[in-house]
Amino acid sequence: MQAKYPPGPRDGRLGISFYKPFRADPLAFAVDVAEKYGDFTFVRLGWVRLYFVNRPELIRDVLATKVKSFRKLGRQMRSLRKIEGEGLVVSEGTTWSRHRPVVQGSFHGRHFGGHGNVVVEYTQRRMERWTAGEPINIADEMNELALEIIAKIVFDVDLSDDAARLRDAVHSFRTEMQKEVSGSVHLPDWLPLPGKIRQKRAVQVVNDLIWSQIRERRTSDVPRNDMLAQMLTAASAAPVPISDAEIRDEAATLFVAGHDTTSAALAWFWLTLMQNPLVEERVLREIGTVLGGRTPTAADVPKLHYLERVVKESMRLYPAAAFLFGREAIEDVEIGGFTISKGSWVFIAPYVVHHDARNFPDPEVCDPERFAPGRIEQIPAYAYIPFGGGPRICIGNALATMQIILMAATVLQKYRVTLAQPTPEHEMEVVLRPKGGLRVLVESRAEVQPIRRAA
Ligand code: HEM
Repeated sequence: MQAKYPPGPRDGRLGISFYKPFRADPLAFAVDVAEKYGDFTFVRLGWVRLYFVNRPELIRDVLATKVKSFRKLGRQMRSLRKIEGEGLVVSEGTTWSRHRPVVQGSFHGRHFGGHGNVVVEYTQRRMERWTAGEPINIADEMNELALEIIAKIVFDVDLSDDAARLRDAVHSFRTEMQKEVSGSVHLPDWLPLPGKIRQKRAVQVVNDLIWSQIRERRTSDVPRNDMLAQMLTAASAAPVPISDAEIRDEAATLFVAGHDTTSAALAWFWLTLMQNPLVEERVLREIGTVLGGRTPTAADVPKLHYLERVVKESMRLYPAAAFLFGREAIEDVEIGGFTISKGSWVFIAPYVVHHDARNFPDPEVCDPERFAPGRIEQIPAYAYIPFGGGPRICIGNALATMQIILMAATVLQKYRVTLAQPTPEHEMEVVLRPKGGLRVLVESRAEVQPIRRAA
Protein backbone atom coordinates (compact mmCIF):
# COMPACT_ATOMS: atom_id res chain seq x y z
CA MET A 1 0.00 0.00 0.00
CA GLN A 2 1.20 3.49 -0.84
CA ALA A 3 2.26 5.42 2.32
CA LYS A 4 0.13 8.40 3.24
CA TYR A 5 3.10 10.75 3.48
CA PRO A 6 6.53 11.00 1.84
CA PRO A 7 9.45 9.88 4.04
CA GLY A 8 10.72 12.04 6.87
CA PRO A 9 11.59 11.99 10.56
CA ARG A 10 8.86 10.70 12.95
CA ASP A 11 9.03 10.85 16.73
CA GLY A 12 5.66 9.33 17.60
CA ARG A 13 4.90 12.53 19.59
CA LEU A 14 3.41 14.64 16.80
CA GLY A 15 6.86 15.99 16.03
CA ILE A 16 7.17 17.91 19.31
CA SER A 17 10.88 17.05 19.47
CA PHE A 18 11.48 18.70 16.06
CA TYR A 19 10.23 22.13 17.11
CA LYS A 20 13.42 23.19 18.81
CA PRO A 21 15.92 22.29 16.06
CA PHE A 22 13.58 23.66 13.38
CA ARG A 23 13.16 26.99 15.15
CA ALA A 24 16.82 27.28 16.08
CA ASP A 25 18.12 26.78 12.55
CA PRO A 26 15.52 25.98 9.88
CA LEU A 27 18.14 25.70 7.15
CA ALA A 28 20.30 23.21 9.06
CA PHE A 29 17.12 21.27 9.82
CA ALA A 30 16.10 21.20 6.13
CA VAL A 31 19.60 20.13 5.05
CA ASP A 32 19.63 17.35 7.63
CA VAL A 33 16.19 16.06 6.63
CA ALA A 34 17.20 16.12 2.93
CA GLU A 35 20.40 14.20 3.65
CA LYS A 36 18.58 11.53 5.62
CA TYR A 37 15.26 11.23 3.77
CA GLY A 38 15.62 12.76 0.31
CA ASP A 39 14.32 15.65 -1.74
CA PHE A 40 10.60 15.28 -1.03
CA THR A 41 9.86 14.82 2.65
CA PHE A 42 7.22 15.27 5.29
CA VAL A 43 7.59 16.46 8.87
CA ARG A 44 4.82 16.94 11.37
CA LEU A 45 5.45 19.88 13.68
CA GLY A 46 2.56 19.78 16.15
CA TRP A 47 -0.51 20.94 14.24
CA VAL A 48 1.58 21.85 11.16
CA ARG A 49 1.94 19.38 8.31
CA LEU A 50 5.14 20.48 6.60
CA TYR A 51 6.44 19.20 3.26
CA PHE A 52 9.95 20.00 2.06
CA VAL A 53 9.76 20.01 -1.73
CA ASN A 54 13.28 20.10 -3.14
CA ARG A 55 12.96 17.96 -6.30
CA PRO A 56 13.06 20.16 -9.43
CA GLU A 57 10.02 18.69 -11.19
CA LEU A 58 7.93 18.97 -8.03
CA ILE A 59 9.14 22.52 -7.45
CA ARG A 60 7.80 23.28 -10.90
CA ASP A 61 4.41 21.90 -9.80
CA VAL A 62 4.29 24.14 -6.72
CA LEU A 63 5.59 27.32 -8.37
CA ALA A 64 4.09 27.00 -11.83
CA THR A 65 1.90 24.10 -12.94
CA LYS A 66 -0.23 23.94 -9.79
CA VAL A 67 0.47 27.43 -8.49
CA LYS A 68 -3.27 28.13 -8.10
CA SER A 69 -3.50 25.48 -5.37
CA PHE A 70 -1.12 27.43 -3.12
CA ARG A 71 -0.74 30.83 -1.51
CA LYS A 72 2.14 32.31 0.41
CA LEU A 73 2.24 31.37 4.04
CA GLY A 74 -0.06 33.61 6.13
CA ARG A 75 2.30 33.76 9.09
CA GLN A 76 5.21 35.12 7.03
CA MET A 77 3.02 37.48 5.03
CA ARG A 78 1.32 38.90 8.16
CA SER A 79 4.71 40.07 9.32
CA LEU A 80 5.89 41.43 5.97
CA ARG A 81 2.55 43.16 5.33
CA LYS A 82 3.35 45.62 8.12
CA ILE A 83 6.02 47.23 5.97
CA GLU A 84 5.13 46.17 2.43
CA GLY A 85 1.32 46.38 2.68
CA GLU A 86 -0.28 44.67 -0.31
CA GLY A 87 2.85 45.00 -2.49
CA LEU A 88 3.85 42.30 -4.95
CA VAL A 89 5.67 40.05 -2.50
CA VAL A 90 2.63 39.80 -0.23
CA SER A 91 -0.42 40.14 -2.47
CA GLU A 92 -2.33 37.33 -4.15
CA GLY A 93 -5.05 36.97 -6.77
CA THR A 94 -6.43 40.01 -8.54
CA THR A 95 -4.45 42.54 -6.47
CA TRP A 96 -1.24 40.83 -7.54
CA SER A 97 -2.27 40.49 -11.19
CA ARG A 98 -3.34 44.16 -11.39
CA HIS A 99 -0.10 45.36 -9.82
CA ARG A 100 2.50 43.17 -11.48
CA PRO A 101 2.31 44.75 -14.99
CA VAL A 102 2.37 48.25 -13.50
CA VAL A 103 5.54 47.51 -11.54
CA GLN A 104 7.06 45.42 -14.35
CA GLY A 105 7.24 48.47 -16.65
CA SER A 106 9.87 50.04 -14.39
CA PHE A 107 12.13 47.02 -14.92
CA HIS A 108 12.27 47.37 -18.68
CA GLY A 109 15.78 47.03 -20.14
CA ARG A 110 15.63 50.58 -21.55
CA HIS A 111 16.10 51.92 -18.01
CA PHE A 112 19.19 49.82 -17.35
CA GLY A 113 21.67 52.32 -18.82
CA GLY A 114 20.68 54.91 -16.20
CA HIS A 115 20.54 52.35 -13.38
CA GLY A 116 24.00 51.09 -14.36
CA ASN A 117 25.44 54.62 -14.10
CA VAL A 118 23.97 55.01 -10.61
CA VAL A 119 25.48 51.68 -9.53
CA VAL A 120 28.96 52.59 -10.74
CA GLU A 121 28.91 56.18 -9.48
CA TYR A 122 27.69 55.17 -6.01
CA THR A 123 30.17 52.31 -5.79
CA GLN A 124 33.01 54.69 -6.63
CA ARG A 125 31.75 57.14 -4.03
CA ARG A 126 31.57 54.45 -1.37
CA MET A 127 35.14 53.29 -2.17
CA GLU A 128 36.38 56.79 -1.36
CA ARG A 129 35.55 56.02 2.28
CA TRP A 130 37.86 53.01 2.35
CA THR A 131 41.52 53.21 3.23
CA ALA A 132 43.84 50.83 1.45
CA GLY A 133 45.40 48.37 3.89
CA GLU A 134 42.63 48.83 6.49
CA PRO A 135 39.98 46.22 7.27
CA ILE A 136 36.32 46.88 6.48
CA ASN A 137 33.14 44.89 7.01
CA ILE A 138 32.28 44.38 3.37
CA ALA A 139 28.86 42.90 4.19
CA ASP A 140 27.86 46.16 5.93
CA GLU A 141 29.45 48.23 3.18
CA MET A 142 27.51 46.35 0.50
CA ASN A 143 24.33 46.67 2.54
CA GLU A 144 24.56 50.45 2.83
CA LEU A 145 25.64 50.75 -0.78
CA ALA A 146 22.75 48.60 -2.04
CA LEU A 147 20.39 50.69 0.10
CA GLU A 148 21.71 53.95 -1.37
CA ILE A 149 21.42 52.54 -4.89
CA ILE A 150 17.88 51.26 -4.50
CA ALA A 151 16.77 54.58 -2.92
CA LYS A 152 18.25 56.45 -5.87
CA ILE A 153 16.71 54.11 -8.46
CA VAL A 154 13.27 53.87 -6.84
CA PHE A 155 12.84 57.43 -5.45
CA ASP A 156 15.73 59.42 -6.86
CA VAL A 157 16.86 60.35 -3.35
CA ASP A 158 20.43 60.51 -2.22
CA LEU A 159 20.72 58.81 1.13
CA SER A 160 24.44 59.09 1.57
CA ASP A 161 24.12 60.42 5.12
CA ASP A 162 20.95 58.56 5.99
CA ALA A 163 21.93 55.12 4.74
CA ALA A 164 23.01 53.84 8.15
CA ARG A 165 19.76 55.03 9.80
CA LEU A 166 17.64 53.32 7.15
CA ARG A 167 19.80 50.23 7.24
CA ASP A 168 19.23 50.04 11.00
CA ALA A 169 15.48 50.53 10.50
CA VAL A 170 15.29 47.68 8.00
CA HIS A 171 17.56 45.58 10.18
CA SER A 172 15.39 45.95 13.30
CA PHE A 173 12.31 45.19 11.23
CA ARG A 174 13.94 42.03 9.91
CA THR A 175 15.08 40.86 13.36
CA GLU A 176 11.56 41.15 14.76
CA MET A 177 10.09 39.54 11.66
CA GLN A 178 12.38 36.53 12.04
CA LYS A 179 11.14 36.13 15.64
CA GLU A 180 7.52 36.41 14.54
CA VAL A 181 7.96 33.94 11.71
CA SER A 182 9.75 31.28 13.71
CA GLY A 183 7.91 31.78 17.04
CA SER A 184 5.25 29.28 17.98
CA VAL A 185 2.90 31.93 19.41
CA HIS A 186 1.89 35.09 17.57
CA LEU A 187 2.10 38.02 19.98
CA PRO A 188 -0.22 40.95 19.17
CA ASP A 189 1.42 44.08 17.79
CA TRP A 190 -0.03 46.37 20.48
CA LEU A 191 2.05 44.71 23.20
CA PRO A 192 4.65 47.28 24.33
CA LEU A 193 7.58 44.91 23.83
CA PRO A 194 10.92 46.47 22.84
CA GLY A 195 11.07 44.47 19.57
CA LYS A 196 7.54 45.53 18.57
CA ILE A 197 8.31 49.17 19.37
CA ARG A 198 11.51 49.08 17.31
CA GLN A 199 9.59 47.46 14.47
CA LYS A 200 6.90 50.19 14.51
CA ARG A 201 9.58 52.88 14.47
CA ALA A 202 11.26 51.16 11.52
CA VAL A 203 8.00 51.12 9.56
CA GLN A 204 7.53 54.81 10.38
CA VAL A 205 10.98 55.69 9.03
CA VAL A 206 10.27 53.91 5.74
CA ASN A 207 6.73 55.35 5.52
CA ASP A 208 7.89 58.93 6.08
CA LEU A 209 10.43 58.57 3.30
CA ILE A 210 7.97 57.12 0.79
CA TRP A 211 5.01 59.41 1.48
CA SER A 212 7.20 62.50 1.28
CA GLN A 213 8.37 61.30 -2.14
CA ILE A 214 4.85 60.57 -3.37
CA ARG A 215 3.65 64.01 -2.18
CA GLU A 216 6.61 65.63 -3.87
CA ARG A 217 5.72 64.01 -7.19
CA ARG A 218 2.04 64.90 -6.87
CA THR A 219 2.71 68.57 -6.12
CA SER A 220 5.84 69.45 -8.11
CA ASP A 221 6.14 70.05 -11.87
CA VAL A 222 9.73 68.85 -11.99
CA PRO A 223 9.71 65.80 -14.30
CA ARG A 224 11.10 62.65 -12.67
CA ASN A 225 12.05 59.38 -14.23
CA ASP A 226 12.62 57.16 -11.22
CA MET A 227 10.67 53.94 -10.58
CA LEU A 228 8.19 55.69 -8.30
CA ALA A 229 7.35 58.26 -10.99
CA GLN A 230 7.08 55.50 -13.62
CA MET A 231 4.77 53.48 -11.38
CA LEU A 232 2.57 56.50 -10.58
CA THR A 233 2.18 57.20 -14.31
CA ALA A 234 1.49 53.57 -15.18
CA ALA A 235 -0.97 53.32 -12.26
CA SER A 236 -3.17 56.11 -13.61
CA ALA A 237 -3.24 54.42 -17.04
CA ALA A 238 -3.99 50.93 -15.68
CA PRO A 239 -7.32 49.37 -16.76
CA VAL A 240 -8.45 49.53 -13.12
CA PRO A 241 -6.66 52.58 -11.66
CA ILE A 242 -4.27 51.95 -8.79
CA SER A 243 -4.25 54.34 -5.84
CA ASP A 244 -1.29 56.21 -4.33
CA ALA A 245 -1.61 54.00 -1.24
CA GLU A 246 -1.20 50.92 -3.42
CA ILE A 247 1.85 52.48 -5.09
CA ARG A 248 3.24 53.24 -1.60
CA ASP A 249 3.08 49.52 -0.95
CA GLU A 250 4.90 48.73 -4.19
CA ALA A 251 7.59 51.33 -3.52
CA ALA A 252 8.11 49.93 0.01
CA THR A 253 8.29 46.45 -1.49
CA LEU A 254 10.94 47.37 -4.04
CA PHE A 255 12.89 49.21 -1.38
CA VAL A 256 12.88 46.32 1.12
CA ALA A 257 13.03 43.40 -1.33
CA GLY A 258 15.51 45.19 -3.56
CA HIS A 259 18.44 45.83 -1.28
CA ASP A 260 18.59 43.24 1.47
CA THR A 261 18.82 40.27 -0.89
CA THR A 262 21.18 42.06 -3.28
CA SER A 263 23.58 43.01 -0.51
CA ALA A 264 23.57 39.48 0.93
CA ALA A 265 24.27 38.12 -2.57
CA LEU A 266 27.16 40.57 -2.88
CA ALA A 267 28.67 39.50 0.44
CA TRP A 268 28.57 35.88 -0.73
CA PHE A 269 30.02 36.87 -4.08
CA TRP A 270 33.05 38.39 -2.32
CA LEU A 271 33.49 35.29 -0.20
CA THR A 272 33.35 33.05 -3.28
CA LEU A 273 35.95 35.14 -5.04
CA MET A 274 38.27 35.36 -2.04
CA GLN A 275 38.16 31.60 -1.58
CA ASN A 276 38.95 30.85 -5.22
CA PRO A 277 42.07 32.71 -6.37
CA LEU A 278 42.11 31.07 -9.82
CA VAL A 279 38.56 32.22 -10.42
CA GLU A 280 39.51 35.70 -9.23
CA GLU A 281 42.44 35.80 -11.60
CA ARG A 282 40.24 34.94 -14.57
CA VAL A 283 37.70 37.57 -13.57
CA LEU A 284 40.47 40.18 -13.39
CA ARG A 285 41.77 39.21 -16.80
CA GLU A 286 38.31 39.54 -18.29
CA ILE A 287 37.72 42.92 -16.65
CA GLY A 288 41.08 44.07 -18.03
CA THR A 289 40.27 42.86 -21.57
CA VAL A 290 36.72 44.19 -21.72
CA LEU A 291 37.20 47.49 -19.91
CA GLY A 292 40.88 48.25 -20.44
CA GLY A 293 40.85 50.43 -17.31
CA ARG A 294 37.81 52.57 -18.21
CA THR A 295 34.73 52.97 -16.05
CA PRO A 296 32.17 50.19 -16.69
CA THR A 297 28.62 50.84 -17.92
CA ALA A 298 25.52 48.69 -18.27
CA ALA A 299 26.50 48.11 -21.93
CA ASP A 300 29.58 46.17 -20.71
CA VAL A 301 27.57 43.71 -18.66
CA PRO A 302 26.77 41.31 -21.54
CA LYS A 303 30.49 41.20 -22.40
CA LEU A 304 31.60 40.24 -18.89
CA HIS A 305 30.60 36.59 -19.49
CA TYR A 306 32.88 34.97 -16.97
CA LEU A 307 32.07 37.45 -14.21
CA GLU A 308 28.39 36.76 -14.78
CA ARG A 309 29.03 33.01 -14.40
CA VAL A 310 30.88 33.65 -11.13
CA VAL A 311 27.96 35.75 -9.86
CA LYS A 312 25.59 32.91 -10.79
CA GLU A 313 27.80 30.31 -9.17
CA SER A 314 28.05 32.33 -5.95
CA MET A 315 24.23 32.54 -5.90
CA ARG A 316 24.12 28.78 -6.38
CA LEU A 317 26.53 28.11 -3.54
CA TYR A 318 24.97 30.69 -1.24
CA PRO A 319 21.45 31.65 -2.33
CA ALA A 320 20.42 34.78 -0.40
CA ALA A 321 16.89 33.36 -0.47
CA ALA A 322 17.98 30.04 1.09
CA PHE A 323 14.27 29.32 1.46
CA LEU A 324 11.54 30.72 -0.72
CA PHE A 325 8.59 32.05 1.22
CA GLY A 326 6.57 29.15 2.59
CA ARG A 327 3.47 28.09 0.68
CA GLU A 328 0.17 26.89 2.11
CA ALA A 329 -2.13 24.54 0.15
CA ILE A 330 -5.52 26.22 -0.29
CA GLU A 331 -7.10 22.95 -1.46
CA ASP A 332 -6.10 19.29 -1.56
CA VAL A 333 -3.48 18.96 -4.28
CA GLU A 334 -1.50 16.04 -5.70
CA ILE A 335 2.29 16.47 -5.65
CA GLY A 336 4.70 13.63 -6.47
CA GLY A 337 2.01 10.95 -6.02
CA PHE A 338 0.86 12.20 -2.59
CA THR A 339 -2.16 14.25 -1.67
CA ILE A 340 -1.07 17.40 0.09
CA SER A 341 -4.13 18.32 2.10
CA LYS A 342 -5.57 21.81 2.38
CA GLY A 343 -3.74 23.88 5.01
CA SER A 344 -0.45 21.96 4.72
CA TRP A 345 2.76 23.95 4.45
CA VAL A 346 5.29 23.56 1.65
CA PHE A 347 8.87 24.78 1.99
CA ILE A 348 11.22 24.98 -0.98
CA ALA A 349 14.89 25.51 -0.14
CA PRO A 350 17.02 26.74 -3.06
CA TYR A 351 20.03 26.05 -0.82
CA VAL A 352 19.16 22.34 -0.65
CA VAL A 353 18.34 22.08 -4.37
CA HIS A 354 21.56 23.89 -5.33
CA HIS A 355 23.67 21.54 -3.22
CA ASP A 356 22.14 18.32 -4.57
CA ALA A 357 24.75 16.39 -6.59
CA ARG A 358 22.06 15.14 -8.99
CA ASN A 359 21.44 18.70 -10.06
CA PHE A 360 25.01 20.00 -9.75
CA PRO A 361 27.83 17.42 -9.78
CA ASP A 362 30.45 18.13 -7.08
CA PRO A 363 28.08 20.65 -5.55
CA GLU A 364 30.54 22.03 -3.00
CA VAL A 365 33.08 22.92 -5.70
CA CYS A 366 33.01 26.45 -7.09
CA ASP A 367 32.81 25.88 -10.84
CA PRO A 368 31.45 28.93 -12.69
CA GLU A 369 31.69 27.05 -15.99
CA ARG A 370 28.54 25.16 -15.04
CA PHE A 371 26.80 28.20 -16.47
CA ALA A 372 28.79 28.26 -19.73
CA PRO A 373 27.02 27.42 -23.02
CA GLY A 374 27.23 23.67 -23.58
CA ARG A 375 26.94 22.92 -19.87
CA ILE A 376 24.17 25.18 -18.66
CA GLU A 377 21.69 23.10 -20.68
CA GLN A 378 22.43 20.13 -18.38
CA ILE A 379 20.98 21.91 -15.36
CA PRO A 380 17.44 20.55 -14.87
CA ALA A 381 14.60 23.07 -15.09
CA TYR A 382 13.76 24.45 -11.62
CA ALA A 383 17.07 23.20 -10.15
CA TYR A 384 18.64 26.68 -10.20
CA ILE A 385 16.21 28.96 -8.40
CA PRO A 386 18.01 31.83 -6.61
CA PHE A 387 15.18 34.10 -7.80
CA GLY A 388 12.34 31.59 -7.38
CA GLY A 389 10.31 30.59 -10.43
CA GLY A 390 6.93 30.59 -12.14
CA PRO A 391 4.71 33.67 -12.20
CA ARG A 392 6.04 34.87 -8.80
CA ILE A 393 9.66 34.89 -9.97
CA CYS A 394 11.68 37.84 -8.69
CA ILE A 395 10.81 40.95 -10.67
CA GLY A 396 14.28 42.38 -9.98
CA ASN A 397 16.38 39.42 -11.12
CA ALA A 398 17.98 41.06 -14.16
CA LEU A 399 18.49 44.35 -12.31
CA ALA A 400 20.10 42.59 -9.34
CA THR A 401 22.45 40.57 -11.55
CA MET A 402 23.49 43.70 -13.42
CA GLN A 403 24.06 45.55 -10.15
CA ILE A 404 26.25 42.83 -8.70
CA ILE A 405 28.34 42.57 -11.89
CA LEU A 406 28.88 46.34 -12.10
CA MET A 407 29.61 46.77 -8.39
CA ALA A 408 32.09 43.89 -8.48
CA ALA A 409 33.83 45.15 -11.64
CA THR A 410 34.09 48.68 -10.22
CA VAL A 411 35.61 47.52 -6.92
CA LEU A 412 37.93 44.97 -8.54
CA GLN A 413 39.40 47.57 -10.89
CA LYS A 414 40.66 49.48 -7.89
CA TYR A 415 41.06 47.09 -4.99
CA ARG A 416 42.10 43.58 -4.17
CA VAL A 417 39.84 42.20 -1.45
CA THR A 418 41.14 39.52 0.93
CA LEU A 419 39.50 37.74 3.83
CA ALA A 420 40.56 39.05 7.26
CA GLN A 421 38.68 36.53 9.40
CA PRO A 422 37.97 32.79 9.50
CA THR A 423 35.37 31.45 7.05
CA PRO A 424 32.05 32.80 8.38
CA GLU A 425 29.09 30.69 9.39
CA HIS A 426 25.69 31.18 7.82
CA GLU A 427 23.00 33.16 9.52
CA MET A 428 19.39 32.92 8.40
CA GLU A 429 17.51 36.10 9.18
CA VAL A 430 14.85 36.08 6.46
CA VAL A 431 17.85 36.30 4.11
CA LEU A 432 20.94 34.07 4.27
CA ARG A 433 24.01 36.11 5.14
CA PRO A 434 27.46 35.61 6.64
CA LYS A 435 27.04 35.59 10.43
CA GLY A 436 28.51 38.73 11.97
CA GLY A 437 29.36 40.20 8.56
CA LEU A 438 32.50 39.72 6.52
CA ARG A 439 35.73 41.42 7.53
CA VAL A 440 38.11 41.94 4.63
CA LEU A 441 41.24 43.85 3.82
CA VAL A 442 41.18 46.13 0.80
CA GLU A 443 44.49 46.76 -0.91
CA SER A 444 45.06 49.14 -3.74
CA ARG A 445 45.60 47.17 -6.98
CA ALA A 446 48.61 49.27 -7.88
CA GLU A 447 50.40 48.10 -4.72
CA VAL A 448 49.40 44.45 -4.92
CA GLN A 449 51.82 41.81 -6.12
CA PRO A 450 50.46 40.03 -9.22
CA ILE A 451 48.49 37.01 -8.03
CA ARG A 452 49.45 33.44 -8.81
CA ARG A 453 48.97 32.39 -12.44
CA ALA A 454 46.84 29.38 -13.31
CA ALA A 455 48.95 26.25 -13.77
C1 HEM B 1 20.30 39.02 -5.61
C2 HEM B 1 19.21 39.72 -5.36
C3 HEM B 1 17.83 39.15 -5.23
C4 HEM B 1 17.43 37.89 -4.87
C5 HEM B 1 18.31 36.71 -4.50
C6 HEM B 1 15.99 37.87 -4.91
C7 HEM B 1 15.22 36.76 -4.65
C8 HEM B 1 13.85 36.70 -4.82
C9 HEM B 1 13.06 35.50 -4.71
C10 HEM B 1 13.61 34.13 -4.39
C11 HEM B 1 11.77 35.83 -4.94
C12 HEM B 1 10.57 34.88 -4.99
C13 HEM B 1 10.09 34.57 -3.60
C14 HEM B 1 9.07 33.44 -3.57
O1 HEM B 1 8.49 33.07 -4.60
O2 HEM B 1 8.86 32.90 -2.48
C15 HEM B 1 11.73 37.26 -5.17
C16 HEM B 1 10.58 37.97 -5.42
C17 HEM B 1 10.56 39.33 -5.57
N1 HEM B 1 11.67 40.18 -5.65
FE1 HEM B 1 13.59 39.64 -5.55
N2 HEM B 1 15.55 39.11 -5.26
C18 HEM B 1 16.63 39.92 -5.49
C19 HEM B 1 16.61 41.25 -5.89
C20 HEM B 1 15.48 41.99 -6.08
C21 HEM B 1 15.46 43.37 -6.50
C22 HEM B 1 16.69 44.19 -6.86
C23 HEM B 1 14.15 43.76 -6.50
C24 HEM B 1 13.54 45.09 -6.82
C25 HEM B 1 14.17 46.20 -7.00
C26 HEM B 1 13.35 42.61 -6.10
C27 HEM B 1 11.98 42.60 -5.96
C28 HEM B 1 11.21 41.46 -5.82
C29 HEM B 1 9.76 41.46 -5.85
C30 HEM B 1 8.86 42.68 -6.00
C31 HEM B 1 9.35 40.12 -5.71
C32 HEM B 1 7.91 39.59 -5.70
C33 HEM B 1 7.52 39.28 -7.12
C34 HEM B 1 6.10 38.75 -7.25
O3 HEM B 1 5.65 37.93 -6.43
O4 HEM B 1 5.44 39.17 -8.21
N3 HEM B 1 14.19 41.56 -5.85
N4 HEM B 1 13.01 37.77 -5.10
